[in-house]
Amino acid sequence: MTTKTGMVVGIGRAHAKAILLGEHTVVHGTPAIAFPLPALPVRALARPAEPGTGSQVPADGHFRFTVGGTDTALSGPRVAAEEALRRWGITDTTVEVVVECGIPLARGLGSSAACAGAAVRAVADLHGLVVESGELYDLVQCGEQVAHGRASGIDASAVLANGPIRFHQGRAEPMPIGLDAALVIADTGVPGSTQHAVAGVRRRLDEDPVRAGSLLERASGLIEAAGDELSAGAAESLGKTMLDFQELLAELGVSTPHIDALVTAALGAGAHGAKLTGAGLGGCVLALTEPASAPGVSAALRRAGAVRTWTVPTRAMHAGATPLSATTSEPGTHQ
Ligand code: PMV
Repeated sequence: MTTKTGMVVGIGRAHAKAILLGEHTVVHGTPAIAFPLPALPVRALARPAEPGTGSQVPADGHFRFTVGGTDTALSGPRVAAEEALRRWGITDTTVEVVVECGIPLARGLGSSAACAGAAVRAVADLHGLVVESGELYDLVQCGEQVAHGRASGIDASAVLANGPIRFHQGRAEPMPIGLDAALVIADTGVPGSTQHAVAGVRRRLDEDPVRAGSLLERASGLIEAAGDELSAGAAESLGKTMLDFQELLAELGVSTPHIDALVTAALGAGAHGAKLTGAGLGGCVLALTEPASAPGVSAALRRAGAVRTWTVPTRAMHAGATPLSATTSEPGTHQ
């Protein structure tokens, strides 16, 4: 795009994601199921810059960095964009990237992967290039290794996907949904460190390989069951499967009393099931409910301490246009 002042600007976009089932165990080889949240978007703008321009720490989700110059700040989006320029042989330029992130940071909604995806797309657009999806995934993964330590690739896939996916060992397939229900996402307001959580889970699994094997087998069984329940529209049993997976995540040490309280509140308000989503140790809780019960579940979650909630109707999850309605306990800050 060329602006009114004649400056050439590249634009890239991506969006948030939520993991229905399989976080953490996916790092150790199980499948996982996730869906995109296009209503929580990221936009990145890329333009030519002076080589000396540095990075700016995220404030209100907006941040700036340069690639190809002297900036060496270690952030996932910067590493992904830098690697893109290197692979494309563009070595004689410095590019400034401004990222406008509409996803709450460090809440298990994929902000780091989405910012990296949008940044790479913006840098490609600036140079008149179209990035093929496999290459884009690889580049986002380069950034995710910085953000996560060892990233499974589920975030990189889901933040670029148009509909629900089943992810297994680096491959994403569309996930059929036959469910008429609603998912309520509740933000604990507590930032969680994915890297810290992933390292803690690894320690636990390494401590007891026999127990680790049976836990991962149990996880795989639950994820397969959830896939069948999703396509068959079996909301009640899917809720039960989510609760079983939450128990397993608690055994892995990534739940917290706050998350447990939100799960209990959702069940008390009639949800079929609830669990943490993403890395845990803070972040968000995901509750499955009948569409008519969603407002009550959402209100109960906020009474139990959620700082905001979003509701996603499962019916609308195909077709790449998942609408999202939001409520928050802070008036005037609806997202
Ligand atoms: O970074 P988050 O919170 O969106 O979650 C990532 C999912 C994990 O399974 C915890 C890590 C991974 O790389 O799969």
